[in-house]
Amino acid sequence: MTVEANLKILVAVTGGIAAYKSAELVRLFVKAGADVQVLMTEGAQAFVTPLTFQALTGKAVRSSLLDPAAELGMGHIELARWADHIVIAPATADSLARLSQGMANDLLTTVILAYQGPVTIAPAMNQAMWSNVITQDNIKRLSAFHPHWSWVGPDAGEQACGDVGPGRMSSPEAIAHQVLGAATDKTLTGKRVVISAGPTRERLDPVRYISNFSSGKMGYALAQAAQQAGADVVLVSGPVALQVPKGVRLVSVESAQDMHDAVMKAAVGSDLFIATAAVADYRPETTAAQKMKKSDKTLSRTIDLVENPDIVASVARLTTGRPFVVGFAAETHDAVAYGQDKRVKKQLDMVVINDVSVPGLGFGSDDNQVTLVSAEIQESYGPAAKIRIAQWLIEKIADHL
Ligand code: C5P
Repeated sequence: MTVEANLKILVAVTGGIAAYKSAELVRLFVKAGADVQVLMTEGAQAFVTPLTFQALTGKAVRSSLLDPAAELGMGHIELARWADHIVIAPATADSLARLSQGMANDLLTTVILAYQGPVTIAPAMNQAMWSNVITQDNIKRLSAFHPHWSWVGPDAGEQACGDVGPGRMSSPEAIAHQVLGAATDKTLTGKRVVISAGPTRERLDPVRYISNFSSGKMGYALAQAAQQAGADVVLVSGPVALQVPKGVRLVSVESAQDMHDAVMKAAVGSDLFIATAAVADYRPETTAAQKMKKSDKTLSRTIDLVENPDIVASVARLTTGRPFVVGFAAETHDAVAYGQDKRVKKQLDMVVINDVSVPGLGFGSDDNQVTLVSAEIQESYGPAAKIRIAQWLIEKIADHL
């Protein structure tokens, strides 16, 4: 597998016995044509010497946040800007804990905090440390804020400490494949892609609104996957607590009407529109100019709701400058039949169907399972992390553009 020579990969090595395998990982990246910089934590240097990585990359390893000479060359913020992809391999329990708290007291945590691009993490630790609820909670926390980060492994098997179980770092080949696979398929080069994501908020008065639990994770993962596939991406998003993927243009909106207006502006003349947003179907007919006051013990008041525009259907109805249109359908039963029905009614080219009756998948979760349908195809993928689902969807959609 080879990549464009300008793919800049920062490999962060933290302190575990699997650090010796990272030398092979770095060699694979260099061999594929990537520009590789290695960063080592203090602990990592107890396992492998920086000289090993320097010999493989031809660059001095970065390890200290407070190194005046290194900071003069490329400061830690510049290092974060420089990287197209950061790979943390091995990622120890300690490094995951520190990253999950947003710490910035060494070079690794600082660079990651200042970085907005794709990250691939290959955890490695003792099986009991891996299974510990605190480690799992740290991973959940990281995944919740960074749905577009990609995880590989750990594998199960015999460990250096003699234990048997999950915690071995994945093979350098598997990690390289995951990182380079995402960076090589430039199937959307030159394409303009618009994605709607997140919930909308429909105001009742200046301090209250009607909304839903959409996390926006699927839309943000798709934005990153499309950007990595070479597209120029506009992400029209309702209010969410997610990091915007590097290189993606964000248009922040609040209500369904705002989202409609922003999407229509961006989508006319674009190549692809993917609607992942959970748009409120209705909004209050009137929004009170002042905060509604609490008065009695009971509140007897009717809030009249009026229909919001159907954004994806409006784009699909465009007669000039119409992009290829993909919608989402969350269904609890007869998912494929209802999804196909939605595709026909809204005149969409493709629909991604989520069966939301499966516990732990879909809405708000980090994982998903989907079926992509068009007039010709019906293909399923998952359960898998949303970023993997997104990469698969982008690949499939690109085939049909
Ligand atoms: O009709 P339903 O809400 O189930 O359709 C879901 C699909 O339609 C999603 O792709 C969603 O983003 C889109 N949609 C929209 N505007 C609306 C309602 C739904 O774009 N007002």
